[in-house]
Amino acid sequence: MKRLKKITLAMSLLGALSMSAAEVEVLHWWTSGGEAESVGKLKGLLEKSGHTWKDFSVAGGNGVNAMTVLKSRTVSGNPPTAAQIKGPSIQEWAELGVLSNLNDVAKANNWDKILPKRFADHMKYQGNYVAVPVNVHKINWMWVNPSIFKKAGASIPTTWQEFEVAAKKIKAAGFIPVAAGGQPWQEATVFETIVLGIGGADFYKKALVDLDFSALNSPTMVKAFDTLRMVKSFTDKNAPGRDWNLATAMVYKGEAAMQFMGDWAKGEFKVAGKKVGVDYIAMDAPQTSGSYLYNIDSFVMFKQKDADKKVAQEKLSQLILGDEFQVLFNTRKGSVPVTLGVARTQFDDIALRSMDTLNSAAYTNQLLPSMAHQMAVPDATKGAIVDVITNFYNTKQSSSDAAKALVSAVKSEM
Ligand code: BGC
Repeated sequence: MKRLKKITLAMSLLGALSMSAAEVEVLHWWTSGGEAESVGKLKGLLEKSGHTWKDFSVAGGNGVNAMTVLKSRTVSGNPPTAAQIKGPSIQEWAELGVLSNLNDVAKANNWDKILPKRFADHMKYQGNYVAVPVNVHKINWMWVNPSIFKKAGASIPTTWQEFEVAAKKIKAAGFIPVAAGGQPWQEATVFETIVLGIGGADFYKKALVDLDFSALNSPTMVKAFDTLRMVKSFTDKNAPGRDWNLATAMVYKGEAAMQFMGDWAKGEFKVAGKKVGVDYIAMDAPQTSGSYLYNIDSFVMFKQKDADKKVAQEKLSQLILGDEFQVLFNTRKGSVPVTLGVARTQFDDIALRSMDTLNSAAYTNQLLPSMAHQMAVPDATKGAIVDVITNFYNTKQSSSDAAKALVSAVKSEM
């Protein structure tokens, strides 16, 4: 037995030596505590396989800064080996002819079988795999500090009306009701969650996925803007410019009662050593139970002249969809595995609830792509919609003018 082990070890070492190792430069924006720990697992697995990881991280939530840097690097003819890109942008980049075709590694590893079709489709261009998905994040969460609610004598809300009642009590007790990060993408994240809650899944789809003008400029949308303004009135004056992870810290430090954010927030509670159910609670955002706004992180690989680099890209892609990585990464990142059939044993209660809602929402037509996180509409359209939301949030514009502005914004990108 020992001898066999030695032989296997020698063989795998030989294999590693005979394979030409390559450097993989990976562009990503995972720089917060929880994010960095999670992506570190991918780096570790890649290096174990014999290749080297050159970190190309660009700080800035939602990847806004990373995408700007990526464009300038690509225009100057020097794209990274791999880059975090998602949603319809994948097809936009593929159309430029700069992405590697990943069909071979997909076929060898059964991607069509291990990925839900709906998610696999996001990764394809003209039927070919050009991206590899990493995870599934749920957006419509509300992160709660239960002891603030207790001190304020407030109940955790399940509707926006209840939210207003609770927020008033929390404010009166001297706490900040909502930890907000005043950056356009964070404002849009809160807004789309409100649109889903106020309008329901069908309305969300009509408005923010299908871009139906009568839904965009409708009484329901006006109500969603009114609700956004009401929520803003419960944020603090230092919110402008604040990073999302600093807002999360306000919740676990006992300064703020709630944060509306996708479940990458859980990664921050975890690295801070906070206990779920004791120090923090994750609830569905008001009026969104049963619905699932999804956000899938993914990597594309840029075409390479060097054959060794192509081998390394395929290795990275294969590792990403392996069970080992799916567990190591997602248990830290706050997301859930994108592949089917990964054992649930190592996931916490929040992740299990996310998995269950993901499954049920798919059957009830309540599984919806996040607009704010680039999953639903082309990037330029998303940008135009986010501008309208931010402009409304930071001025005294009326809700009905904002709803009208949504239509003009969408038209301007057609
Ligand atoms: C990404 C997450 C990331 C978050 C904050 C989202 O758009 O999908 O992976 O943690 O932005 O940066």
